Amino acid sequence: MKTFYIETFGCQMNVHDSEKVSGTLLAQGYSQVETPDGADLVLYNTCSIRDKAEQKVFSRLQQFKRDAGKGKVFGVLGCVAQQEGEKIFDKAPHVSLVAGSASYTRLPEMLVQLEAGGSRVTGLSLDTDETFETPFTRRDNPHRAYITIIEGCDKSCAYCVVPFTRGPERSRTSGSIMEEARRLAEEGFTEIQLLGQNVNSYQDPSPAGWDFATLLRRVAAIRGLRRVRFTTSHPRDFVKDIVDAIEENPVLCNHVHLPVQSGSTRVLERMQRLYTRDEYMRRIEWLKKASRGISITTDIIVGFAGETQRDFEQTLSLLDAVEYDSLFSFKYSRRPNTPALSLDDHVSEEEKGNRLTIVQEKQRSIQIRRNSELIGSVQETMVEGFNKATGQWIGRTSQNRILNFTDSVHPSPNGTAFLGSYVGVRVTRAGPNSLVGERISGV
Ligand code: 5AD
Ligand code: SF4
Repeated sequence: MKTFYIETFGCQMNVHDSEKVSGTLLAQGYSQVETPDGADLVLYNTCSIRDKAEQKVFSRLQQFKRDAGKGKVFGVLGCVAQQEGEKIFDKAPHVSLVAGSASYTRLPEMLVQLEAGGSRVTGLSLDTDETFETPFTRRDNPHRAYITIIEGCDKSCAYCVVPFTRGPERSRTSGSIMEEARRLAEEGFTEIQLLGQNVNSYQDPSPAGWDFATLLRRVAAIRGLRRVRFTTSHPRDFVKDIVDAIEENPVLCNHVHLPVQSGSTRVLERMQRLYTRDEYMRRIEWLKKASRGISITTDIIVGFAGETQRDFEQTLSLLDAVEYDSLFSFKYSRRPNTPALSLDDHVSEEEKGNRLTIVQEKQRSIQIRRNSELIGSVQETMVEGFNKATGQWIGRTSQNRILNFTDSVHPSPNGTAFLGSYVGVRVTRAGPNSLVGERISGV
């Protein structure tokens, strides 16, 4: 029997794509192995959002280069594959398969070509009528499932490769999304995460014509589902009706990831983000006014081309104004094909590093404060794992906070039975990145 190994880099879209690839290969009679050593087929599902992410895959490929030719086949999938295309064969000549995300349904066919003696096979078209349904998906988590609702991106943020690596926006029909969500609920999944580069611009292509908020309401009404999450939202397309839907329906998790990138309207304009700081803050007001306590998280880029000290200070003042529950922060990285390549006034790497540290230190104290406010509260927590070293269960709240807890009824794992259940946990302590608590009985 043939074996494959797959390593995934990048976002949840990529994680889910790898599940589709694994499902397809398993259906072809392959079995999955945990290390590249024992695999006939070694796949890297890659990310090219920042230079560092892209370099990682090339260093991985170098690491196992010596094994090529011993019957091992190397494939590069995902965003670096789409971006670099056949150039990958020059950089890493032992690679024989290069395929972007719109070609995964063709993988079996490409593998047959390789087996028939083809030395190099590519799948790089960004065909817009590619379907979302791969007949086979092997989901990594038995309780939480990802569903792609929209592919690609029609925005043109000046720093971003995604429009080039994932192509134009294509929404999936509501019928097909609902069918997959219902099937998952019947199979016992209780949490669904709707995925897209920009989920808010979802527009049902079928005659039903649902917008994103309608889709949220309908998915949340499926019997058996306890939690529905979605990511990522673009502030420009984030409408009040989404907040209303969350308020109405506790199945819709009270967490919104709303990447702002910068607190300076001048920088936002240079980034071609299509909103001002004030427009962004209006959306934050909607979220803050909601009665359910919606947690808000974001992405920040520091040191974008032309970002002055004054601009940077505006990002810091935005962090104070919003008080995010968590954030991801990045140093600006120049990417191929992107509009920002032609901008000047680049910020030095050293200064980017300084700004990143300042953002992270500020956010750390905000998170300690935000998390401390939850001490004494009871949180519905989904049990995700057990940490043997600390003797604590690892859980997650609707607000997407990690809550590690002890449980006198289930002090330690007995098989996998407790995983995926929902329990009430009283928060007793708070750190910057997680909470600690004790399970309360009867909930
Ligand atoms: N440099 C740095 N960060 C970037 N991101 C996207 N492109 C770049 C880039 N060229 C960040 C943004 C985005 C997140 C997924 O990655 O903050 O929201
Ligand atoms: Fe990385 Fe963007 Fe591709 Fe996701 S879509 S893997 S973040 S480049």
